[in-house]
Amino acid sequence: MSDFLRGKAAVVTGASRGLGRTMAVALGREGVRVALVGRDAAKLEETAETIRGGGGEAHVFTADVTDEAQVLALEEQVRAALGTVQILINNAGVNLRKPVTEFTLAEWRWVQDANLTSVFLMCRSFVPHMKGTGYGRILNLTSIMSHVSLPERTAYSSSKAGLLGFTRALALELAGEGVTVVGISPGPFATEMNAALMNDPEKSAMFLERIPVHRWGQVEDIGELAVYLCGERASFITGTDIVIDGGWLAQ
Ligand SMILES: NC(=O)c1ccc[n+]([C@@H]2O[C@H](COP(=O)([O-])OP(=O)(O)OC[C@H]3O[C@@H](n4cnc5c(N)ncnc54)[C@H](OP(=O)(O)O)[C@@H]3O)[C@@H](O)[C@H]2O)c1
Repeated sequence: MSDFLRGKAAVVTGASRGLGRTMAVALGREGVRVALVGRDAAKLEETAETIRGGGGEAHVFTADVTDEAQVLALEEQVRAALGTVQILINNAGVNLRKPVTEFTLAEWRWVQDANLTSVFLMCRSFVPHMKGTGYGRILNLTSIMSHVSLPERTAYSSSKAGLLGFTRALALELAGEGVTVVGISPGPFATEMNAALMNDPEKSAMFLERIPVHRWGQVEDIGELAVYLCGERASFITGTDIVIDGGWLAQ
């Protein structure tokens, strides 16, 4: 373990469960002071306790990252508690799977707001923390659905493809600043987001058939990847995404 990350401050959105929780805990193990963001204070507190139990530092902030006023207030609260932030993990996201003809406009906007507009709001607030310091890391949870798709994924795929485009553009904007902007594109992971698929025997079998390594991703698969991308040696990785998908995109 290098000491490079020790004492740095990170914001992780959607840290109450799933991939966000695992990445936050992995950063906490490296001595990163972590701000945990989501809407469920009790669940965020569980993540915080896990980090503190390992000797790390964690702070809980409840905010809906799709709400402009709440994100602006969040930035002030985080700055007051942790000072400037060097690492931002935009992980909060939602999925809604149905045919395009069955989407209401409100549902469509809900997916775009959660997966794309939230990242704009968070970056607008936290990029100023990183500019001029020579180091910063922004990780955006894109998806294999940024690259390929499936039926009933119009809202999700378009939001995640948009997020990959956002990642590239912001990486170019910040490339001279020592701030990298990178997507992490998971394939199917065994999280609450996929509970409905995993609990449906037919759909679950279809997914397992399509994942070349024949298993769902486990949250433990992603923590050290996030740590690596935040590390010193990852400064040449920017404006792209790292795919972690059991081989899905290779087909
Ligand atoms: N799991 C996969 O197979 C997979 C594959 C590709 C990409 N991804 C992406 O990876 C990320 C994490 O996925 P996951 O599977 O860990 O999802 P998850 O288990 O459903 O967790 C989603 C997290 O996002 C938070 N969140 C959602 N909307 C929010 C909002 N408006 N404001 C604040 N927090 C919000 C939730 O917190 P609260 O509800 O407690 O507020 C929760 O902590 C997502 O962006 C997802 O699209 C996942």
